[in-house]
Amino acid sequence: MNQPKRYTITAALPYTNGAIHIGHLAGVYVPADIYARYLRLIGKDVAFICGSDEHGVPITIKAKKEGVTPQDIVDKYHAIIKTSFADFGISFDNYSRTSAEIHHETAQEFFKTLYDKGEFIEEITEQLYDEEADQFLADRFVTGTCPKCGNEEAYGDQCEKCGTSLNATDLINPKSAITGNVPTLKQTKHWFLPLHKHEAFLKEWILEGHKKDWKPNVYGQVKSWIDDGLRPRAVTRDLDWGIPVPLEGAEGKVLYVWFDAPIGYISSTKEWAERVGKDWEPYWKDKETKLVHFIGKDNIVFHCIIFPSMLKAEGSYILPDNVPANEFLNLEGNKLSTSKNWAVWLPEYLEDFPNQQDVLRYALTANAPETKDNDFTWKDFQARNNNELVAIFGNFINRVVVLTDKYYKGIVPEASEFSAVDQDVLAAIKAYPDVIASSIERYRFREASQELLNLARLGNKYLADEEPWKLVRTDEARTKTIMFVALQMASALASLSEPFLPFTSEKLKTILNINSNDTTNSWNAVSSKKVLLPAGHHIGKAELLFSKIEDETIQHQLDKLIASKKSNEAANKKLEPQKETITFEDFSKLDMRVGTILEAEKMPKANKLLILKVDTGIDVRTIVSGIAESFTAEEVVGKRVTVLVNLAPRTLRGVESQGMILMTESEDGTLVFVNPDASTDAKVPNGLHIS
Ligand code: 2FM
Ligand code: ZN
Repeated sequence: MNQPKRYTITAALPYTNGAIHIGHLAGVYVPADIYARYLRLIGKDVAFICGSDEHGVPITIKAKKEGVTPQDIVDKYHAIIKTSFADFGISFDNYSRTSAEIHHETAQEFFKTLYDKGEFIEEITEQLYDEEADQFLADRFVTGTCPKCGNEEAYGDQCEKCGTSLNATDLINPKSAITGNVPTLKQTKHWFLPLHKHEAFLKEWILEGHKKDWKPNVYGQVKSWIDDGLRPRAVTRDLDWGIPVPLEGAEGKVLYVWFDAPIGYISSTKEWAERVGKDWEPYWKDKETKLVHFIGKDNIVFHCIIFPSMLKAEGSYILPDNVPANEFLNLEGNKLSTSKNWAVWLPEYLEDFPNQQDVLRYALTANAPETKDNDFTWKDFQARNNNELVAIFGNFINRVVVLTDKYYKGIVPEASEFSAVDQDVLAAIKAYPDVIASSIERYRFREASQELLNLARLGNKYLADEEPWKLVRTDEARTKTIMFVALQMASALASLSEPFLPFTSEKLKTILNINSNDTTNSWNAVSSKKVLLPAGHHIGKAELLFSKIEDETIQHQLDKLIASKKSNEAANKKLEPQKETITFEDFSKLDMRVGTILEAEKMPKANKLLILKVDTGIDVRTIVSGIAESFTAEEVVGKRVTVLVNLAPRTLRGVESQGMILMTESEDGTLVFVNPDASTDAKVPNGLHIS
C-alpha cells in the first residue's frame, strides 16, 4: 500500500485473568505503541485499539478456584490492566472490554451475518463431556497429549509447546481439568467455520501476496498451517460464560472466545468513534486504511488464518496489511510463567522503580524478541540504563543544558559560521528522522531504538571533540556556535525519542521549553526546519532524565525471583509415600543415642562423604556420613546429633563406618540434622534419612 489514508492499529486483547507482565509489554504493547506514536507524530490519522478479552475458559476456571463469579474476575483485572497500560504510556485511542454491550451486539451481528450468508457448517458432533461435572469440556477445560508433538499438557484448543491449534477431540488421553476424569463423548450441535473453503484465498493473499513484507516467523507459521491442510473450526461452545449464540435453539451455547475476541477490535473502534464523533467504518472497511495487528506468536493462527477468513466471509471488511508478531521473551533463562510467578509484573515494577517506566520500555525494546525468543535479565536492564540511558542520552542532555545555563543564562546563543564538522552534524540530525522511521515502518523497533541512541552518541562525541568548556575561555564566538548546534541536537532528541521514551521526551521538552502540545509534524520538523531552537529562546533548568541503578537494587529483584523459584520447588516437591508398616519389635531394635561430633574431615576424592568422630555417650566412634554436599567439615564440628549406634558396620572407601547420623530434609529440600536439642517442631516432610 502506498500512502494509506488512515491506520487502524490493534494490539492483542489481553486475557483478563491476571496482571500484565514484561513479556506482554515487550511482545505486543510497546512495539504497537511506538508504531502508533510515530504515525501520529508524522501527522497520520490513527486509531490505536485494544481492550480486555473477558471470555474464555481460563477466566471461568479462575473464578471457580477463587469462589467468585467470572464477572468479578474480569472486573478486577480489567481495572488493573487498564491502569498498567496508562501507567506505562501505552497510548491507546480506546481501551474497551469484551463484556461491553457494544461488543456483545457487534459479535452477535457478525455471527448472524455469516450464518445468514450460509458461511457456517451446522453439525451435530460428539464432543468431550465430563459426566461428574455435567459439562462439555471445551478448550482449556480439557488437557491431553498433543497429536503433533507429544506434549502431555496440551489444551483442548491449542498446544502451547508446538503452537498447533487443536480441537478438543484431537487430544490423545484427554482428561477433564475440572474433575480429572476421563471424558466421555456426547452429541451436541455446533457451528463451524469451513476454513478449508478459504484455503485458496489465504494462499493467494498471504503465501503469494505477503511473502516479502511479512516477518519470516509469521509467514513460516502460516505457510506450515496451510500446507498441513485447513479443517472446519467450531466457532461455538457449550459453556455458560461468553456471548450467547444469537440463534433459536442455541440456548446454553456461546460464541467461541477466539470468534468474539478479534471482533473486539471492531467494537472497540466503534466505541472510540462514538466517543470522539467519528465514523468507525472507514477504519475497517476503506481499502485505503492500513490495518496492522500487533500480537505474540501464539496468536498467529487466529490473526492470519481464522480472523481473516471471518472478515473475508463477511465480505465488507479489509484485511490486515501486516501482522508483525513477536517471539517470546524469557526471564533470566526461564519461560515467563504466571502460575509459577516467574515474571516481572507491571504494578510491582512501578512500586520498585517509580517513575522509571521509560527505562523498562527502553530495555524491552532494545532487547525485543523480534526474530527469536530473547532473554530479559536484570543485569542487562541495569546495563541498558546505566551505560546507555544515563551515560549516553542523559549525559549529553545534561551537559548541553548545564553549559547553556552557565554560559548564557539559559538562552540559546547566536551561531556564527558553521565549520565542516558542524555542518556534518546538522546534516546528520536532519537525516535521523528518516533513518529511524525506516526501521519503525519495517517493524524493526530494536534497530530504531539503537538509531535513536546513536544520535545521542553523536552529540556526546561532538561535545567531546569540540570541547566548548575549553574554548569558552579563548573563543566566545566558536563556543556559541558549538552550543547552538548541540542545542539543536537536544531538541531533535526531544522529538525523536517520543515514541520510545514518552515520559522522557515530555520532560525534555519541558526542560528545553518546547511546547509539547505542538506535536503535529514535530518529527518531520527535525528534517525540514532550518532551526529547531532559535537563538534567543529561553530554556529551563537542568534536571536528571535518568539515574544510575545500583547493584543492590538489581540484587533485590534477583532475590525476589530466587524466592519464587524456591517456593515453586517446595510446592512441586513430591512427598515420598509412607514406607511399609513395621512392628513395635522392629522399632525397639533401633538403639538411638544423642551424640556430639568431635572431629570432621572430608573423605578424599568423594564429593558426598565426611568422616566424623562422634562421641555417642558410650564411646567415640567413626561414622562416614553422606552430608558433604550440604555441610562443610568445619561447620558440623560441635553439633549435637542423633545417632543410630547398633547398625552393622560398613566399610566405605576403606573407612569403617560404625553407625548412622539421622538427617531429614527441610521444605526447600536441604538436609538438616535431626537435632536432639531443637526447640521447635521441625517438619519432616520426607521422613528420616540415614546418612
Ligand atoms: O493470547 C491472548 O492473550 C488473547 N487474549 C489475545 C486475543 S487477541 C484478539 F483477537 F482479541
Ligand atoms: Zn504440540
